[in-house]
Amino acid sequence: MRILMVCLGNICRSPLAEGIMKKKLEEHGLTGTVDSAGTASYHTGERPDLRSVEVARKYGIDISYQRARAFSRADFDRFDLIFAMDRENYDNIKRLARNEHDHSKVELILNRLHPGKDMEVPDPYYGGKDGFENVYRMLDASCEQLALSMKK
Ligand code: 4NP
Repeated sequence: MRILMVCLGNICRSPLAEGIMKKKLEEHGLTGTVDSAGTASYHTGERPDLRSVEVARKYGIDISYQRARAFSRADFDRFDLIFAMDRENYDNIKRLARNEHDHSKVELILNRLHPGKDMEVPDPYYGGKDGFENVYRMLDASCEQLALSMKK
């Protein structure tokens, strides 16, 4: 399975989602690839936000090597599952879909934890450290569910 995690800047939420999901694949003995991207391009080439790097490190995950990039239409061909962090990201990805097959790949990531609820991973950029811890926990729980569903 080729999995893409998408947020707005690709410096806070989706780099964490990428790091967490890579670890879940390892832990569950699953094969697959995980990448991340942002619907906006203004942070292209940047490292993840230090607050994301630090919360990941606290849980034994290194995301410091990641570099931000923008989501593009070609990602529909490169990935099987595309997870949006919030509804705005979701809408922006869906707007680029070319056909039903593209559309079928896009989901809100928290729907893996709370099916049908359309809940969002809040943007932690302008908040404090607590926001990053909260985002980490939400993503860890969703990625665990995703990994479990891949074992079936
Ligand atoms: P992300 O967070 O989408 O989780 O990477 C943000 C990063 C940067 C900005 C907004 C959200 N920004 O406005 O620069």
